[in-house]
Amino acid sequence: MKTVRSVRTMVAFAATIVLSTAMAVAVANSASAASTLGAAAAESGRYFGAATNSFMLNRQPHATVLNREFNSIVAENEMKWYHTEPNQNQFNFTAGDQLIAHARARGMTVRGHTLVWHSQQPQWARNMSGTALRNAMINHINRVAGHWRGQIHSWDVVNEAFADGGSGARRDSNLQRTGNDWIEVAFRTARAADPNAKLCYNDYNTDGINAKSTAIYNMVRDFKSRGVPIDCVGLQSHLGTSLDPTYQQNIQRFADLGVDVQITELDILQGSNQANMYGQVTRACLAVARCTGITVWGVLDPDSWRTGANPLLFDGNGNKKPAYDAVLNALNAGGNPTPPTSAPPATTAPPATTAPPATTAPPATTPPPPGGGCSATVSMNSWNGGFVATVRVTAGPASINGWRVRLTVPSGASVTNAWNADRSGNTGAVDFTNVSYNGQVGAGQSTEFGFQASGNGSIPTPGCTAS
Ligand code: G3I
Repeated sequence: MKTVRSVRTMVAFAATIVLSTAMAVAVANSASAASTLGAAAAESGRYFGAATNSFMLNRQPHATVLNREFNSIVAENEMKWYHTEPNQNQFNFTAGDQLIAHARARGMTVRGHTLVWHSQQPQWARNMSGTALRNAMINHINRVAGHWRGQIHSWDVVNEAFADGGSGARRDSNLQRTGNDWIEVAFRTARAADPNAKLCYNDYNTDGINAKSTAIYNMVRDFKSRGVPIDCVGLQSHLGTSLDPTYQQNIQRFADLGVDVQITELDILQGSNQANMYGQVTRACLAVARCTGITVWGVLDPDSWRTGANPLLFDGNGNKKPAYDAVLNALNAGGNPTPPTSAPPATTAPPATTAPPATTAPPATTPPPPGGGCSATVSMNSWNGGFVATVRVTAGPASINGWRVRLTVPSGASVTNAWNADRSGNTGAVDFTNVSYNGQVGAGQSTEFGFQASGNGSIPTPGCTAS
């Protein structure tokens, strides 16, 4: 009895504290109700962003609304592979640079969208497969994430890699056919190329607990258990007329894995439930401490890819819609503060003088003289503290059925992952052996494998043994 009474007393005491805290928060909120989306989101440590395009930055009323309301932007299209590397190894950063300069000048953060996606690949990549595509992907990540190193809040490293429907399977694509490890290779490469960006996996039809979001959940859990670098999950949230009742629960279960969650491409079909749903989504994010930001996929309704759906917060004249009020009110009602470690990095980017990592790939070695069964050459993409090496194995005058490359990793360096080869060890002399699909190399023909390592230095000419 005594226990029950003291528990009751404690509950009553705790309730008083909760109530008075809630009142204090409410008073604080009403006293400081912000008048823009970005400012209101910032009060709980979050960002509120919008997708835009460089050619819209001076277009009215888009520009006025963008600059007034949002504290984060994302390129709707201009950081995608087809845009940034239209021809292999020829990079176009102009539009992305403009977007970043625009954001920096206004203290906005920038989401990067997207390093690797089965869609919107340049034609040359669409024509590729196997080792060539895998290496092209790695090079693309190194060059693009390297170019904007230190300036991206979060990268959608991989976009939409899971199939729709109930299978929970990976989506078939040329990337998937390079081997199931392509996603983790992409994340490891991105981490090395831009160590300060949060690395996200981003997908749609994941706006509740379903087979697809569960498959992604299982991948994230696996990545966390094996130390594959992943920091966040993007829920695109292209929504219709009702919200999945497990929307918040789904956010929470990802957060419980130790990753941030971001609502990355929010738009909601205009109709009688639009404003209510915008409020629901906002509140769901605010309720989960690790849901660190919301991005709407466009500014004005006519900007939207969903022609005729009017799914955004502003009409074509830049007027605020009821959906806008629902979001602003939800933000101003406050939410669970984001944990200190997941607050967006400083909105000022590092000094322009910060050199991007060396992104060209000069040959590190010269090939050994032909004559043996095979020879190997190495080229390296290096930055301070790490590198990706691409090793080319060339058969001699006769075809070979297998190969082993022995190379010496620089002193102090350590291999973290490899692709298209099995390896023994990670420091000193390391042997790389062909895998099942690349052992046979025709006379004078070549195949490639690669690996990533921490550390600095160069690699002497490797030895190659054919079998
Ligand atoms: O820029 C070319 C132009 O030169 C060409 O003449 C014209 C002819 O079709 O196409 C233009 O490219 C279009 C591009 O948007 C830029 O406007 C593409 O056709 C068009 O397919 C592309 O659509 C984009 C789509 O992704 C595909 O990349 C949408 O604007 C963009 O909103 C949409 O965004 C995606 C996210 O990246 C991922 N999640 C889903 C979301 C909606 O589909």
